[in-house]
Amino acid sequence: MKSRGIIIAGNWKMNHLPAETKAFIDRFKKLSTDQKQIQDAGSRLKSLLFPPMLSLPDASDNARGSTLQIGAQNAWGEASGAFTGEISATMLRDIQIQWVLVGHSERRHVFGESNALILKRVQGLLGQGMKVMLCIGETEPERKAGKTEAVIDRQLSESLASPWADSALKNGQLSLAYEPVWAIGTGLTATPAQAEEAQKYCRKWIWDHYGMDCASQVSILYGGSVKPDNLAELLSCPNIDGALIGGASLKVDDFFKMVLIGSEALN
Ligand code: PGA
Repeated sequence: MKSRGIIIAGNWKMNHLPAETKAFIDRFKKLSTDQKQIQDAGSRLKSLLFPPMLSLPDASDNARGSTLQIGAQNAWGEASGAFTGEISATMLRDIQIQWVLVGHSERRHVFGESNALILKRVQGLLGQGMKVMLCIGETEPERKAGKTEAVIDRQLSESLASPWADSALKNGQLSLAYEPVWAIGTGLTATPAQAEEAQKYCRKWIWDHYGMDCASQVSILYGGSVKPDNLAELLSCPNIDGALIGGASLKVDDFFKMVLIGSEALN
């Protein structure tokens, strides 16, 4: 029994034009119609897509009234101002978008975002009522050097410490995605045992710093080469509350399959 429910999230990264986004969502809606399993799951199953910024208005319009929720791949914490290249919570809310992914490994490693910068995003976005999914995870050399827990410690202590973290962890406004960098886009999925061990550690960290209620409420997703073939086994782990899926979320039939697998894993 998954007491926290399950979140199946697709991170499209820099893929899919607005027209492709619309077609994807139309097909997803068609596939979900009359799917008793999905209807029965109700709010315990969340299916979520993070399309590129240019597709957000179309995605939001098209998903309205369906079970699909839409989020942005990044956003800045101020309401407006001189922040070239950024979008704000106000802009996202204007198109009925509530979710934002923050601190994805590509933001950290390709674009050099630091924990300090990520903390500013987390603080500002939570303060403005957005739902934040904070991504963390170690690189391959860090894992090989036995530093996985130390990296999780540092990323969480340096990027989560906001005055809103406590209530946001309790009420589902803040979730975590553990994504080992070596597993992202490589086909090298963490074994369920590796993912569970790291995610159990994340939950323990939350317990130690924010208490039992926050630790038992927060959803922790796994990400890194998740696909229809390995999702069920990952979701069977007690500390894995969903998946953040890159490559395998780009094809609607595969994404839908994974949402169905999520619904099966709920009980
Ligand atoms: P992947 O990406 O599923 O293609 O490994 C996951 C992610 O980057 O969120």
